[in-house]
Formats: sequence, C-alpha cells, structure tokens
Amino acid sequence: MQKFSEYIYFDHSATTPVIPEVAKVVHDAMTLYFGNASEPHMPGVEAKRMLENSRAVIAKAINSYSDEILFTSGGTESNNIAIFGIAEAYYKKGNHIITSEIEHPAVHMPLKVLEQEGFKVTYLPVDSNGIVNPDDVKNALTNETILVSIMHANNVMGALQPIEEIGKITRENNIIFHCDAVQSYMSINIDVDLFNVDLLSISGHKIYAPKGVGALFVRRGTKVMPQIYGGGQERGRRSGTENIPGISGLAKATEILSANFNERNEKVAGLRDYLKDRIMGKISDVIYNGHPQKRLPGNCNFTFKYVESADLVNKLNEFGIAVSAGSACKSINSEASEALLAMGICPEYARGSIRISLGFENTVEEVDYLLNILPDIITDLRNHYPLYREKGSDKYFIFR
Ligand SMILES: Cc1ncc(COP(=O)(O)O)c(C=O)c1O
Repeated sequence: MQKFSEYIYFDHSATTPVIPEVAKVVHDAMTLYFGNASEPHMPGVEAKRMLENSRAVIAKAINSYSDEILFTSGGTESNNIAIFGIAEAYYKKGNHIITSEIEHPAVHMPLKVLEQEGFKVTYLPVDSNGIVNPDDVKNALTNETILVSIMHANNVMGALQPIEEIGKITRENNIIFHCDAVQSYMSINIDVDLFNVDLLSISGHKIYAPKGVGALFVRRGTKVMPQIYGGGQERGRRSGTENIPGISGLAKATEILSANFNERNEKVAGLRDYLKDRIMGKISDVIYNGHPQKRLPGNCNFTFKYVESADLVNKLNEFGIAVSAGSACKSINSEASEALLAMGICPEYARGSIRISLGFENTVEEVDYLLNILPDIITDLRNHYPLYREKGSDKYFIFR
C-alpha cells in the first residue's frame, strides 16, 4: 500500500506542533529579550513588558482581568495549585471536595493525596455520553464542601461538561469552582464570568505553544495558598523566575488562534465528522465514544470491538499515522481508559479504543489516507485476535 511521504499527526489532544510564528516569538524572547523580569534595567523592563502584555492577552481570551492570571509550568501545575491551594486556604471551613470520575490524573492525583490527609472527595459519575449531571453536583453539596472541580472538555473522548449550569449551582451556594480547561482552551469559547468559575487551568502545548508553560485563572477575592515559595514572583503566588519565552509563546498562540477562532474550529469539526461518518459506515462493530455533538471539534474516539488498541496504534504508526490509545498519559500501558469505563463501556471493549484528535493543519487527504488503510488493518487485527472467533457472520467474544 502506498505510504504518505510524511508522517500524519492525529494526536493533537496529546500535544500540538508549535506554530512557526510562535517559535519565532519564543526564540526572540530567549535571545533578544532574555532579561529577568524582576530587574529594573532595560533588559529586565523589556522582559517585564512582555510578561504583562502576555498576561493581558490570556486575560482577554477568557474575559478576565490581567491580575487574575497566574503563569505556571503547565496544566498539571495549574490543577495542583488550584486543588492544594484551595484545600490549604479553606480547610478550616470544610474538608469536602466534589469532582467527577473522568478528570485527568492532574486533578485525581492531588485529590488522592488530600484524601490521605483526611479530606473527603465525591467522584460524580457520568452518563453514557461522558457527561456529568449538574443535579448530581447540587445533591452532593454538604456544609463541608469547599471546592468543586469539573473539567470543561474530557481528554479521552472530548465530551463537554455543562460548566455554566454547574457554575450557577456553585455560585448560588457560595462554593469555589475550579475548571480544568486544558483541552478546551482555544477550541471552545471560554468566558469565566459566564461559566461562574473561580479557577481555570490552561496549558500551552495543547494550543501550538511550547510545553512547560500554562496559566491558572484565579478570580479576584479567591484565596489560593502558594505551592512554590521563593522570590515572590507572580505576586507571591508562584515563585520562580518567569518563563518569558514560554509565556510569550502561549500569548502569541492565543492571539493567532483567537483571530480565526470560529472558522478554524468549524473546519476541524467538519473534518472530524467526515472521518466519523466514514469510519462508522465502513467498519462494523465500532462504537463512537462521547457525546455526538457536545464534544471538542478535533476529538474522535472509537472503540473497535475485538481489537487491542496498542496493536492498532502500532500498526497505524507503521503506516506513518500517529493516534493514541485512550489518553496521552495512558498510551504506553494498555489499560482501558477510566473515562470510557466510567461511561459504562465494558472493559474488554474499552481496550480496543483509540483517540484520533485532529488539528487545524490536518487535511481531507490525510483523513482519506487513514480511511483507505483502516478497514484492512482492523480486519487483519481481528483475524489475529486470539480470543475472537468467527462462525459465519455470527461473531462472538470470549471474555477474560
Ligand atoms: C484535561 C487535561 N488536564 C491537564 C493536563 C496536563 O497538562 P500539562 O501537560 O500541561 O501538564 C492535560 C494533558 O494531557 C489534560 O488533557
């Protein structure tokens, strides 16, 4: 079979290539504007100007104030500051936190640590489309609840959560609301006032900016205890010399992606639906995971029954295509994704799930190439699957 001369990248939920214009800004910040933003001399002042301009860009993109943006090393740190910072600031008020079963490990793991320290955490279920019911949030609130942390878009199957409705509930009940928006930032409109969120996490490398940079929105009046102490940068909330190259890159990518926001995301969503319709039409025994409409523009997640996702990912890699088995963090081990299990997909099937996440630079030709080779690959893998038998058209599956 004819191979494309270049590798095809369909794993944008894991990370994205840096836009050349963004890389130039990062390069300039490293070589020309390399000053320490805490110093009063000209290079320092220049670095400070870049820092504050970047802060204003991020603030504008989510409808917040500049002083509500705290720069971090990425989504993981933003989530950690939000969770530990609130727990430490409000533990005297209560020790109960509400989250969902499908959060990223960067939310679940800090919560597990807090549980060991005596906090009580409620993990809300999701429906078969991967969506949390806002009534469940309301019903889970107690006098001890100090924080609700629900993601905007899921990293595995792209489902969008009813953040506005949850935000209304938390606001009415005077509970702090954190939202992990790492997957949705620059793909779905975010307005922190409309959402009624108090904290919101974003990350650079999901939006064509470098890795190792992110931001946390902290609403004015929300007390967050610092988790890193030192020179008092970021108004004492996150010490450490500011990563001006990364931060400038995050801001530049935000500017570029904001400029054609609707057009770009509509194009990506169109390509996603094109891919989905054809896969569902060409291949049998497939489940399209996540909500049919309420999902990230670039996210497709399929369960191919009677296939091991690791085998499928490897096979596609041989053909020069990058996709992911489950979520970015879980690809290397072939455990079924927790998010898919939470949606009620049976574990044996969930093991055959892959995420195909598209970006704005992907083309119909690239998708067609995948569509051309995939049916044969699936048939081949199924024929070699030891526990899959075919009796005429009557297929059955022996569970382990
Ligand atoms: C939903 C979500 N939250 C947090 C993170 C972690 O972000 P980072 O890689 O910037 O630490 C990711 C990354 O995959 C993610 O998808």
